Parts: sequence; structure tokens; C-alpha cells
Amino acid sequence: MNTQPARFVFLSSAASKEKLLPALAPGNVEKTRNAPLTLIVAFDTKFYNHLPTQFKAYDAKPMFESNQALTDATAFRNSSLQGAYVMMAARALGLSVGAMSGFNPIAVDEAFFADGEYKTNFIINLGYGKPEGFHPRGPRLAFDDVAEIL
Ligand SMILES: Cc1cc2nc3c(=O)[nH]c(=O)nc-3n(C[C@H](O)[C@H](O)[C@H](O)COP(=O)(O)O)c2cc1C
Repeated sequence: MNTQPARFVFLSSAASKEKLLPALAPGNVEKTRNAPLTLIVAFDTKFYNHLPTQFKAYDAKPMFESNQALTDATAFRNSSLQGAYVMMAARALGLSVGAMSGFNPIAVDEAFFADGEYKTNFIINLGYGKPEGFHPRGPRLAFDDVAEIL
């Protein structure tokens, strides 16, 4: 339904980075401090307020307002997909992309989204990584381990 729940906060200044660093897992602090750009991918818990202009087929707003489980699942699923497309777009432009789940979401939300409407989904470091800094690509499960053809 063209819900577009993702909200994006680009941290380009040292001061904005410093606000984030205390909320990160220890292993994510230095790479985030050193990244030229860090992106918080969040979602708007009230994304449905935009549906009257973004989804004209019918009035879908009441369906979300009256169903918290549907609203939560839609906000998380669709903002994850939007963030993943940002990762693909950045990589297509030649950037290195480091996604992170290793942070305290309550602390990030308090620091950046104090009014409570937006919630953090995940965080992405962006820049041009030095090849010697990349770790070897991890193994992938085989097709048959993860898929079935019915
Ligand atoms: C949503 C998400 C969260 C991640 N969280 C972290 C993280 O907190 N710290 C980190 O160093 N890497 C993190 N990663 C990176 C993954 O560990 C990495 O993408 C995965 O191991 C595959 O790595 P490879 O493509 O280099 O083999 C995350 C990746 C994704 C997609």
C-alpha cells in the first residue's frame, strides 16, 4: 500500500556521531567513528498518516489505526526492505556498506527520536573501505538448505 514507513537520519558530523557512539556495541564503535557517513534507518510508527496522499486507491488509514499488530509488522518489514534497497543503491555507486544490529535501540531512540514516534530499525556505515580492512566473505548456506521447490 505504498506505506513508506522508513525514516532516514544521516550522521555526517563528528558531533552527531558522538551522540550515537554510547549506544553501540563495543565492536561497532571505532568503525562507526571512522566512517564518513552513518545512516540510522528508522521507521515512523504512524506511517499510516501519510496514506491519504500516498495511497489513493481507498482509505487504508483506519485499517492500520485499528490494528497494532498489522501496523508494527508493516512498519518493520517495509522499513527493512527500504533500508536494504539503500544498501544495494550505495553498493551500486561503489560505496562500502556496513550494516549493524549491534546497538541498544532504546538508547538510540532516546538520543535521536525523543518524541517516540520514530523507532530505530538498523544502522549503516557508508564510505570507501580499504581492501585490507575487509574480512573474508563468510560461507553461505546452500540453496537446498534454505529453499524448496514445490
Ligand atoms: C541487519 C544487519 C546487521 C548487522 N549487524 C552487524 C553489527 O552490528 N556489526 C558488524 O560488524 N556487522 C554487522 N553485520 C554484518 C554481518 O555480520 C555481515 O553482513 C555478514 O556476516 C555477512 O558478511 P559477508 O558478506 O562479509 O560474508 C550486520 C549485517 C546486517 C545485514
